Amino acid sequence: MKILVTGYSGQLGFDVCRELDRRKISYYGAVRRDFDLTDADAVSQFIINYKPDAVIHCAAYTAVDKAEDEVGLCRKINVDAVRAIAMTCCSIGAKLVYISTDYVFPGDGEEFYEINDAKKPLNVYGQSKLDGERIVETLLEKYFIVRISWVFGINGHNFIRSMLNLSKTHNNLTIVDDQIGSPTYTADLAPLLCSMVQSDKYGIYHATNEGICSWAEFAENIFMSAGLKVRVTGQPSSAYPTRAKRPLNSRMSKKSLDKAGFKHLPDWHDALRRYIYELQAVGALPEKQ
Ligand SMILES: NC(=O)c1ccc[n+]([C@@H]2O[C@H](COP(=O)([O-])OP(=O)(O)OC[C@H]3O[C@@H](n4cnc5c(N)ncnc54)[C@H](OP(=O)(O)O)[C@@H]3O)[C@@H](O)[C@H]2O)c1
Repeated sequence: MKILVTGYSGQLGFDVCRELDRRKISYYGAVRRDFDLTDADAVSQFIINYKPDAVIHCAAYTAVDKAEDEVGLCRKINVDAVRAIAMTCCSIGAKLVYISTDYVFPGDGEEFYEINDAKKPLNVYGQSKLDGERIVETLLEKYFIVRISWVFGINGHNFIRSMLNLSKTHNNLTIVDDQIGSPTYTADLAPLLCSMVQSDKYGIYHATNEGICSWAEFAENIFMSAGLKVRVTGQPSSAYPTRAKRPLNSRMSKKSLDKAGFKHLPDWHDALRRYIYELQAVGALPEKQ
């Protein structure tokens, strides 16, 4: 089996390639200089030349707030490039793993979203990812759509890294406490994606670490795990307006993982502790206070 991974320079793509290494599966981790996702023809041509058995598409336009002002660019990358990838996978018979997001849902209520619940993205990024999903579902039979949320990994920027940076200059932080969801550690997700792509259990999945929390609760645990004394005070999202609206409820049900016999990811507290060790090992942790 030969796999093309996009977004090798990002959080998830990097860890997927590490996992493929561990599994001794042949792959190529593509970066921007291999093809720019704004150039659909270049994307297709690269895939045709490489002839993978599967594409794990981890690259995306991920700047949620900026997307509100860069609608065209966001859609070129998250919609047009996905169409090109899906069409090319279809023509060469390759499987496609498409990574999506909790942002496809409206984020109301307190229930866990099932995979087929009504979609209503609140922002440009969410709409572009949903449109990508619909293209994949329409054009392909051999696809995995995997919705994830609150992503963190060693190779890139994320909420945990922002909190650790803020701890260098702040003893007190005010963080939103009315958005509830589940963090996703790319080192935990990558093995699941690799198991999926080695199977024929196609479909739509939700895959995050187990357990839910608010951003404020997540922040408190980050400082605790890193041995940093920062006091976190909760505040509602309404007191911290952002360019893109965000869902309050990002709870996602894992029933489709169960049905297909895939194991859930570990609890997020455990994932966070392992990530802090990983940061420590590369010297990316601030001094304990
Ligand atoms: N981050 C989250 O919290 C989150 C939440 C839910 C779902 N997701 C989804 O999860 C997936 C992985 O996210 P991530 O956090 O690993 O992303 P990330 O760290 O932001 O990485 C994005 C990757 O996409 C590449 N990319 C962006 N524009 C490109 C272009 N025009 N041409 C070629 N490559 C381009 C980037 O390359 P450069 O390094 O060259 O820019 C980078 O490798 C994405 O599909 C994302 O939508 C993420």
